[in-house]
Amino acid sequence: MKFVVTAGPTREYLDPVRFLSNPSTGKMGFAVARVAAMRGHEVVLVAGPVSLKTPKGVRRIDVTSARDMLAAVEEEMAKAKSGKPTIFVATAAVADWRPAKCAPRKLKKGQMSDTLKLVRNPDILKEIGRRTKTAQSPTRPIIHSPTYLVGFAAETNDVIAEARRKCREKNLDMIVANDVTEKGSGFGVDTNRVTLVRKDGSVDRLPLMTKLAVARRIVRECEDLCP
Ligand code: PMT
Repeated sequence: MKFVVTAGPTREYLDPVRFLSNPSTGKMGFAVARVAAMRGHEVVLVAGPVSLKTPKGVRRIDVTSARDMLAAVEEEMAKAKSGKPTIFVATAAVADWRPAKCAPRKLKKGQMSDTLKLVRNPDILKEIGRRTKTAQSPTRPIIHSPTYLVGFAAETNDVIAEARRKCREKNLDMIVANDVTEKGSGFGVDTNRVTLVRKDGSVDRLPLMTKLAVARRIVRECEDLCP
């Protein structure tokens, strides 16, 4: 199978030295890419700005912003050979907004206002879901190969209910929910405590595990998704 995995944060610049971002380090996504490659799958890792080594056997595409990440994912998904199942695992913490304007030169303090105008970024996972599961994208070509979509949900409250909502709204086969306020879970650490929420409504709460062990479980679930 082909795995397309997103990892890390995106950066949304307002001038060449200032940006909006988040604390994602890419550890979770790199673990998924590493395990999928170790299990013999073709793996493309679309990574935001992180300082991790590329796992063996993985093709890596470095990106900066959400729009760059969407373009790279679209290209990889469209390249999928017909008949070869493609799994999209979206572990990246994509910035939902970006500054409305990016200045070409560093803004002087006197040039900056106290409020920043933001615009919405594309939702990469939702866009790919629209193009593969519902064939409803007015502007972009539909992807025809069999595709399975796995999202992540970084939550601070109502973890399972929010994950269920995202699974439905983004047309996912499975979503991996993590409470990022819990000790040893979420951003930056080597462990994660996740709950798998499947399209059919079934739920598996996993104990605190290393991100590598979580990745093994996710890749196995993905393999089971494909007939
Ligand atoms: O990188 P680490 O330091 O190891 O941390 C791991 C992690 C906490 C980043 C990871 O486990 C995690 O939870 N990733 C998802 C973070 C997130 O952005 O969640 P969300 O609930 O905001 O988004 C839901 C899903 O939609 C995610 O699969 C996300 O990749 C995707 N999304 C979100 C917004 C957007 N504009 N485009 C997207 O594709």
